[in-house]
Amino acid sequence: MSVPAETVFQVIGAGRIGLALASMGPSQLRRRGEPVLEVPGPIVICARNDDLDAVLGLVPAERRVDLCFVQNGLLGPWFVERGLTEATRALLYFAVPSRGAAVEDGGGTVVSGPWAEALVTRLGQGGVAAKPVSAERLEAEAVEKLVWSCVFGLLAEVYKAPVGQLILDRRGEIVALTDELLAVAEEAGLPRPTGDVVGRLVAYSAKIPGYQGGLKELPWRNGWFLARRVTPLHGALMDSATAAR
Ligand SMILES: NC(=O)c1ccc[n+]([C@@H]2O[C@H](COP(=O)([O-])OP(=O)(O)OC[C@H]3O[C@@H](n4cnc5c(N)ncnc54)[C@H](OP(=O)(O)O)[C@@H]3O)[C@@H](O)[C@H]2O)c1
Repeated sequence: MSVPAETVFQVIGAGRIGLALASMGPSQLRRRGEPVLEVPGPIVICARNDDLDAVLGLVPAERRVDLCFVQNGLLGPWFVERGLTEATRALLYFAVPSRGAAVEDGGGTVVSGPWAEALVTRLGQGGVAAKPVSAERLEAEAVEKLVWSCVFGLLAEVYKAPVGQLILDRRGEIVALTDELLAVAEEAGLPRPTGDVVGRLVAYSAKIPGYQGGLKELPWRNGWFLARRVTPLHGALMDSATAAR
């Protein structure tokens, strides 16, 4: 099915990603407190993970099929519990450092689900290279993106440096943290990404060198790993990062 470029997207959440997405083509931006509109078409939720349940409460049951999710983090169990495993999901490999800032594309964005083609087209209109993939492929790539968020968020918090600096100065820690987190994810039954994972994480960081991560959404990211197993370097750096807060 080809999807016209003029498809109207409802974009829920006027933050960094929501504003960027709404600027890429015909959109209805829905800010906090505004209801979901009845117009047909994709509904992209651009709120943070902790707000997902509240946003879901705004969406009529018959429109759940149109929902598209762009969140980072360990979301698989949330999708299962909400009966949303068939929903459209995207892993966004681009950075928007602040509200209204230009998108910095890192390449590699993938989308799966019923609105994948429309979202890929829309992202392309906004200068973001994206491709549709199967749900299984997205699940595996989600683990890799989760590890990137956790490794670079934690190192940024500890060393107060953007990702471009971290890949120059902290390569050993990037390798060790990636190994630790991939092992814990695999123990928890998540798919293990194959090939040169560290090489890909570093290559993505090199494309958005000025991006400054940080420790965010802990229960969905680093906290999820800690709750399963405290590994040596991850545990030590998390201790020092949280002590310094
Ligand atoms: N920023 C990036 O570079 C990037 C890259 C890839 C993926 N992501 C993912 O994209 C998601 C959003 O990130 P972000 O950086 O755009 O976050 P953000 O800047 O914090 O924006 C989130 C927006 O959601 C809004 N919101 C929350 N609850 C709402 C509700 N009930 N109804 C309507 N709007 C609501 C917030 O409104 P208020 O302003 O009123 O709180 C805020 O405007 C995150 O899961 C993140 O992991 C971000």
